[in-house]
Amino acid sequence: MKARIAVLPGDGIGPEVIAEGVRCLRVLAERGGHDLTLIERPFGGAAIDLTGEPLPPETLTTCQSADAVLLGAIGGPKWSAPEAKVRPEQGLLELRRALGVYANLRPVKVHPALLGASTLKPEVLTGVDLLFVRELTGGIYFGEKRRDATAASDLCTYTVTEIERIVRVAAHLAQQRRGKLVSIDKSNVLETSRLWREVATRIVRSEFPQVSLEHMLVDAAAMHLIRRPRDFDVLVTENMFGDILTDEASMLAGSLGLLPSASLGEGRRGLYEPIHGSAPDIAGQGIANPYGTVLSVALLLRHSLGLTAEAEALEQAVSAAIDAGALTPDLAPSGPAVSTRAAGEAVLDRLTR
Ligand code: IPM
Ligand code: MN
Repeated sequence: MKARIAVLPGDGIGPEVIAEGVRCLRVLAERGGHDLTLIERPFGGAAIDLTGEPLPPETLTTCQSADAVLLGAIGGPKWSAPEAKVRPEQGLLELRRALGVYANLRPVKVHPALLGASTLKPEVLTGVDLLFVRELTGGIYFGEKRRDATAASDLCTYTVTEIERIVRVAAHLAQQRRGKLVSIDKSNVLETSRLWREVATRIVRSEFPQVSLEHMLVDAAAMHLIRRPRDFDVLVTENMFGDILTDEASMLAGSLGLLPSASLGEGRRGLYEPIHGSAPDIAGQGIANPYGTVLSVALLLRHSLGLTAEAEALEQAVSAAIDAGALTPDLAPSGPAVSTRAAGEAVLDRLTR
């Protein structure tokens, strides 16, 4: 097969983790005889430094004409002064919006060898396998923002259509898994949540009668997620709740550095990024965890390129590398740790065996 992939390393540890993801992608392409063209473009703070804007037009058009976009991370203290006129994050939101990738899939699976890496008790974590479906192009992230001398506001809006399509994606995925969908909202307070609950109920009842739907308030969900994480299968929620709850859920897996994500829209094109940020505190040291990015490459292979066997091979290689003890410092708080490069090597090693 033939495909064009836009690669956006971004800021902080972004370039370090992307380097490992790209090496895995190239090896798999070569092994399978696939003709992949990788096109690297500036994005985020790095693009602000180069051009004055976080998402330069050329970066956007490259992404729009690509089959998939692989992104590292963006942001950092250099660009985050409260009075800053342009911010790296604006570029990320604009890219998600422009690509129409409204469905952000964030799978969380606990690797048995990492039960000790989490701050939670191992017996609570064994067997956890859940999938967050976060709405990504609506809600408070994209509403009108106002600011004057004495007040500020961020508007949160959801349309019926926006809720319908994200609930369909989540219910469809639940159908392919254990058939359990939890929809998370704050319907005891927010009007958008009351609409969300109504629409979710209608869509699941009428179009996915085999899927069981439970509604949960976001505060309770935050608690149940760490009290009984094994009970969850697929969770669907709005943009900001999804942002917050998936950072929390990463602690089930043991580290924020492990979690990949796929952002999908109507076609096959997707945006793939680890859920962690640019981690300026450890950037440039070669100790960032590359597995979230490598697992994002697996999602890219599966969802945008249709290369299921390659995706599975890569996921198994990561799992085997972890089994073999290739753990970056975030995964090995007390034991010996390896570098970003060595963790990437450990995966490549298993891919080429
Ligand atoms: C994420 C990040 C972004 C978000 C930031 C960097 C804008 O936290 O992808 O989870 O809030 O969506
Ligand atoms: Mn986040």
